[in-house]
This record gives sequence, C-alpha cells and structure tokens, in this order.
Amino acid sequence: MANSEYEYVKREFEFESRLPPSNWIVVRIDGCHFHRFSKIHTFEKPNDESALRLMNACATSMLEKFPDIVFAYGVSDEYSFVFREETEFYQRRESKILSLCVSYFTSMYVMKWKDFFPNKELKEPPYFDGRVVCYPNLKTIRDYLAWRQVDCHINNQYNTCFWLLVKSGKTEKEAQQALKGTFSKDKNELLLQQFQINYDDELAMFRKGSCVYRDKDLSFGKSISTFSEKLVTTLKKCSINLTGVSGREEKCRYEYVKKFDINHRIPPCNWTVVSINANQFEQFSLTHSFDKPNDETALRLMNASASLMLELFPDIVFGYGFSNEYSFVFQEKTELYQRQESLILSSCTSCFTSFYMMKWKDFFPNKDLVEPPHFEAELLCYPKQKIVCDYLSSRQAECHTSNQYNTCFWMLVKSGKSENEAHQILKGTLSKDKNELLFQQFQLNYNNEPAMFRKGSCTYRQKVEEYVEVEGSENITRERWDVIVEHVDLGMEFWRKRPYILSR
Ligand code: GTP
Ligand code: MG
Repeated sequence: MANSEYEYVKREFEFESRLPPSNWIVVRIDGCHFHRFSKIHTFEKPNDESALRLMNACATSMLEKFPDIVFAYGVSDEYSFVFREETEFYQRRESKILSLCVSYFTSMYVMKWKDFFPNKELKEPPYFDGRVVCYPNLKTIRDYLAWRQVDCHINNQYNTCFWLLVKSGKTEKEAQQALKGTFSKDKNELLLQQFQINYDDELAMFRKGSCVYRDKDLSFGKSISTFSEKLVTTLKKCSINLTGVSGREEKCRYEYVKKFDINHRIPPCNWTVVSINANQFEQFSLTHSFDKPNDETALRLMNASASLMLELFPDIVFGYGFSNEYSFVFQEKTELYQRQESLILSSCTSCFTSFYMMKWKDFFPNKDLVEPPHFEAELLCYPKQKIVCDYLSSRQAECHTSNQYNTCFWMLVKSGKSENEAHQILKGTLSKDKNELLFQQFQLNYNNEPAMFRKGSCTYRQKVEEYVEVEGSENITRERWDVIVEHVDLGMEFWRKRPYILSR
C-alpha cells in the first residue's frame, strides 16, 4: 500500500516543540476531579494520610524512574517535578516529557493503590492533568516552590478550620461564613480557642506538603548530581517553608512566577488528534508474555480502553488504533480545557493509562500486571477534515506495512530461521513478495488473517434504536448512541457512508 500520498501529513503538520535550553523544567500534575474521586473513595477530611502517602510513593517512583528529576514537591492532589536545567531527556520535547510523566505517575498510583488502601477497592479510574513550565534560574524555581507551599498552607489552614467547624455541628454554609475575611492568625486563634488545637502541632505533611529528593546519605541515588545538590542546598538554606507569609511583596513575587506558565491553545476551527503509544512496550509485552506478532487479548484491551475514552470524553468523535498505539480525534469545535494543549494531551494520556490498568483483569484474568504500563503522546492539529482523514489513512497504511512484515518475520523465526536471517530474507521485499512468501512457504493467505491485525481498529459512536416497554401503553423506540469497534478500510467510502462521525 503506497504511503506516499499521505506523507505530507507528517511532513507538514508534525512539529516537535522543544523546551528552551538552560531552563529548569517543571512538570506539575494535578488530579482530575479529585473532589469527586476523594468522595467516592471516602478520603478523610480535610487530609487523608494514606492518600497523601500514596501520592508521595508515586513521586518517589518517579525519581527512581527518571534520573533527571532532581526535586519534587507535592500537596493535596498535585505534584511538581523539577528536571535539572541541562536535562536532555527526550531532547527536551515538551509533549513527550509531559505525557510520559503524567502517564507513569498514573500507572504507579493504580499499581500502588492496594498497598495504601488494602481494604478499599479502586472504584473509578484516577487520572491527572499536567503542564510544563520553564524557569530560567534557581531564584524563580525557589519562588515557584514557595508559591506552591504558600498555597498549601493557606488551603490547609482554611480546610482544617472548616472541617472542625462542620464536625462540631455547623452547616457548611455557616462554617464558610465564620471563616469569611479571616486572616491566618485569626484562624490559628479560632483553632486554639474553640478546639484547643495548636495549628503548629498538626502533621507537617499536612501543613507543609512533601518534598522528595535524593540524599547522599540515603541509599537512594548515591551519585547525587551537582545540579540537584545545588537546588536542594539552596532550598534547604532558604527553607521553602514560608508559612505565615502574606505580604504584598510576596504576592507580587507569586504573580511573577505565574507569568512563566504559558498555556498554548489549539487555534479555533482546527481538528485535534491525540496520538498515544505505549512506552518501552517491547519489554512490557515480554514480561507479560504477549503473543507475537499480535496478541489478540492485548489488542482487545486497547480497544476497550479506547471505547471508555469515547464514553468519558464526548468530544472525541473517533479513535483508531493498532499494535501499541491509539489516535483520538476531537471534534473541531471542542472546548475541552478551553483548548489548552497540555491539559488535553496530559489528561487523555493519563486517563487511557488508568483505563488500561483497570480493565486488565477483565482481559487477562490469569495474568498479574507486574510492570507499570506507561504511554507517551503527542498532540496533532489539522485545519481541514480531509487532512484528518489522510492522517488516519496514513496510520492504517503503517498498520498494514508493519503487520505484514511482522507476520512474515515471526513465521520465518518460528520455522527455524534466526532473527537476523529473517530480516535478511525480508530486506527490500515488496508487499506482494511478502504475500507470495507467506503463501508459498507457509500456505498462508495473508488476506485471511484476522481483520483486526491487518486493518487495525476503528472506534466510534453508532446510532441504535432501542425498544422501551412502557407500562399500560404502547412500547416506544428510543435512539441511543453506542460506541462500537470495527476493523475496516478507512477510505473515502468509509467516511461517505458515515458522514455524521466527523460532522456531528
Ligand atoms: P480539577 O483539578 O479541576 O479537575 O478539580 P478537583 O476536583 O481535582 O479540585 P482541585 O484540584 O482544585 O482540588 C483538589 C480536591 O481534591 C480538593 O478540593 C478535595 O476535594 C480533594 N482532596 C485532595 N486531597 C484530599 C484529601 O486528603 N482528603 C479529602 N477528603 N479530599 C482531598
Ligand atoms: Mg485536582
């Protein structure tokens, strides 16, 4: 299948945005809808110690996995990760760094859940959004972290008072009224007078948040880099503990820090595609002994996760996936996150990771998930519907090319050839040569292979009519949109027959 007619899609519309050199890179992630998530999982109010320890354990795993993260600071459902200023991680490609961080953190959160909540089932997929901010020097990094810690202090002091008032019999409204306009010292007074609580005696983790970094004295990371040393010593010296600060000057400083946060937005009337693919999948599929070249169950798990994405995000109108990748097309007028690129990219990647893990047991009841699956993603932007269709066709062409090659390759290997020999035999062969080889040597007609392997999977909504029984009167039909998965050619014919998909 000629891929050349779609080559322009990649050539002209795929850019890799790299973060400026010599800047500290901060990835800040934040739980999506954690107000609801904490309610469903009956987290203690205002602070759930296990939930916070789980966040800290995930952050620690992040530092173990990514050596260039030198410091992390977390509070409530958020965590900031600081990469050393000279990091060449993913050649500083923004979407790779962001998606991978958020996905790995999500994966650890799901993996470690039962260690921290042995008696609580994970009822809903946790997921996080994230953003990347660059800070040019130590001073701005320090101010950034101090800003987050001041936020922690303000929120925690307020919430501590609020929930004590509520627990003592006030309604939420009354508690709000009682706290309106109070200063930090008023709140401390209130705690002391009404509840005999000295705020400073509250757990430091609640009051100050949590810092994670490598320490020379600990076994964790013996070779602390000079970069992280510089940051940690500076932070220790200045102490990012700014509890009680509320002057005008400090406020200005935090307003300044916020200016570094540049939120790119997708231009209006453009189609957005989030393309997700598994990171270090070779290793992951080996560990979980997936069939080669295609593991049907693993592909069905990808499809199930994709279907859930369409259920959760109404603005995703189409998904196409094969092997370890899935692309999601958003309707052109989506207002998800006010079209902020990093939030769309990160929340999708995180959510997909979470779905994949939570559905794992349904598809592999006899296989434990022993390694965290994690995904990376990029966000693509196309001004015309035709280009979106060409993009999807190019992915399908890629599916065909790689699947045909892999089918031949593994047949040759299974028949006794070494991997090197198999590569040599296939070198320079055309599509029809491979079909011939399969037929001649293995009596296999490539076109009879399962369509899911050859064509990949299309996920979209389809209108179905439902008969509803109504007591005492005639039954009525109701329309419903169901998410379906098909393995078909994504040519002109497909879109002509289903015009509603892209022009809802
Ligand atoms: P988005 O981030 O915009 O998706 O909304 P969100 O619901 O996650 O709210 P936000 O991030 O602004 O605030 C975090 C929310 O998580 C808090 O308002 C709490 O409701 C909840 N939360 C975080 N940590 C705890 C905890 O330890 N205990 C309880 N009970 N709730 C918590
Ligand atoms: Mg949140």
